[in-house]
Amino acid sequence: MPTHHRVIIGNSQKMPEIESGSVQLIVTSPPYPMIAMWDEQFKSDPKISELWRKLDVCADEATLRQIYDSMHENLAKVWVETYRTLCEGGIACINIGDATRSIAGKFQLFPNHARIIEVCEKIGFTTLPYILWKKPTNKPKYNGKGAFLGSGFLPPNAYVTLDCEFILLFRKGSLRRFEPKDKQRYDSAFTKAQRDEWFSQIWTLKGTRQTANDIERRTASYPEEIAERLIKMFSVKNETVLDPFLGSGTTTKAALKNDRNSIGYEVDAELLQTIRNKIDSAKVHTLEVVERRPLI
Ligand SMILES: C[S@@+](CC[C@H](N)C(=O)[O-])C[C@H]1O[C@@H](n2cnc3c(N)ncnc32)[C@H](O)[C@@H]1O
Repeated sequence: MPTHHRVIIGNSQKMPEIESGSVQLIVTSPPYPMIAMWDEQFKSDPKISELWRKLDVCADEATLRQIYDSMHENLAKVWVETYRTLCEGGIACINIGDATRSIAGKFQLFPNHARIIEVCEKIGFTTLPYILWKKPTNKPKYNGKGAFLGSGFLPPNAYVTLDCEFILLFRKGSLRRFEPKDKQRYDSAFTKAQRDEWFSQIWTLKGTRQTANDIERRTASYPEEIAERLIKMFSVKNETVLDPFLGSGTTTKAALKNDRNSIGYEVDAELLQTIRNKIDSAKVHTLEVVERRPLI
C-alpha cells in the first residue's frame, strides 16, 4: 500500500498543519542543549543570544545555567505541540544525550535527559522505562579533556565517559485500544527474537558515520536502525509517525520502508535536498513538501 509523507520546512514550536490527536507515534532527536555544535542554532532565539554575550563578558555559572534553562524552554514548546498532535495512548520517543561543559575552570554536567523527563511530565506525559543507546566508539576522557594518559590510572579525578545516549519513552494518556484481531495490528507483529532484543534496556549500536559532506554532518543523524525499531515497536502499519526535528530525514525513510505515513518538520531549509535524496526509495509513496514563509 502506498504511504504518504509530508516534509514541512518550518519551526515545529507551532504545528498548525497537524490536527490534534491525529498522530500515533513521535520519533525524534532535538538539538542537544550545551553540546557546542548546536550553540549557534539556539542563538537564533534573541534571549539566548543576549545571554551568550553576557557570558562572554562575565563568564559566570549563573548565566550558563540561564542559557541551559532557556534552551530547554525552547524545546519545551515543541514537546507541548507533540503532546497535542498525539492520539490517546500514542507514544513519544525522544533521543537525547547529556552534555558536559566547564565554566571558569569548573566542570559541570548538564543532564538533558532528566530535564526533558521533568518537562514532559509537567505537560501530562507518562514516563515509560527508557532505552540506553550505548555507542561503542567513544573513548574515555580524563578531566573532560584529552584521552586517558598516565595519571588517568590514578584516583580520584577522572570522569566516567558519556558513552550512552537516552531514548526516552513517553505515553499520552491510557493504553491504546484495538478491535480484537485487528488485521493491521496483527500484520505489524514483531518476532520473538526482535522482541527480546528491542525491549531490553541497552541497545549497543554504532552511531551514524559523520563522514560525507558538511550538510550531513550538521544534522548529527541517528542510525536508521534506531528509527526503524521504534516505529515497529510502537506503531501499526499505515499509521502516522511525526518527527518535529527531521534533520536529514532518517525518520521519514524508516517510516517509508515500514509502511507508515510520516510528517517531518525541519527549520533548516538547506536540508531539503538532503532529505529528498535520503528518501529516494523504491517503495511506492507520495511526498508533499511545504515550505513555510516565514519559517516561524
Ligand atoms: C539532532 S538533529 C536531527 C537529526 C535527525 N534525527 C536525523 O537522523 O537526521 C536536529 C534537527 O532539528 C532541526 N531543528 C532545530 N530546531 C527546530 C525547530 N524548532 N523546528 C524544526 N526543526 C528544528 C535542526 O535544524 C536539526 O536539523
